[in-house]
Amino acid sequence: MRVTDRELIRCAEEAKAHSYSPYSGFAVGAAIECADGEVFVGCNVENAAFGSTICAEAAVIAAAVAAGYREFRRIAISSDGTKYCMPCGNCRQLLHEFSPNIEVLAARADGRYVSYPLDKLLPNAFAIGAGD
Ligand code: THU
Repeated sequence: MRVTDRELIRCAEEAKAHSYSPYSGFAVGAAIECADGEVFVGCNVENAAFGSTICAEAAVIAAAVAAGYREFRRIAISSDGTKYCMPCGNCRQLLHEFSPNIEVLAARADGRYVSYPLDKLLPNAFAIGAGD
């Protein structure tokens, strides 16, 4: 069974409630849909050493990969901001590693969202091919 965009965003919103973000006050939730329809969630996890912060997208990719999944169809990202919550540059690269064609749903606080294929957000991405 395939979840709708709206349902995937709802999963991201629920994960956002678990965000640990005392330093920025910016809670982020993410939900990723695997090739077989399985859904994993993640949230940002901050640290007193700011650079050790884990983005919600990185958390959800790690959770899915640790469970044995490496092919993803869609990712929904939600924050409480008034702007659509686009993935940062580093997270675009993390997504590209597993699914260069993943669809990215970027939501904002009121639940409205925009959708982009990853190659629109990270054109000409870095990758190491066979023989490089
Ligand atoms: N953050 C994410 O979780 N995902 C992004 O793509 C951008 C930023 C988090 C990191 C930090 O905890 C907070 O948002 C503010 O940057």
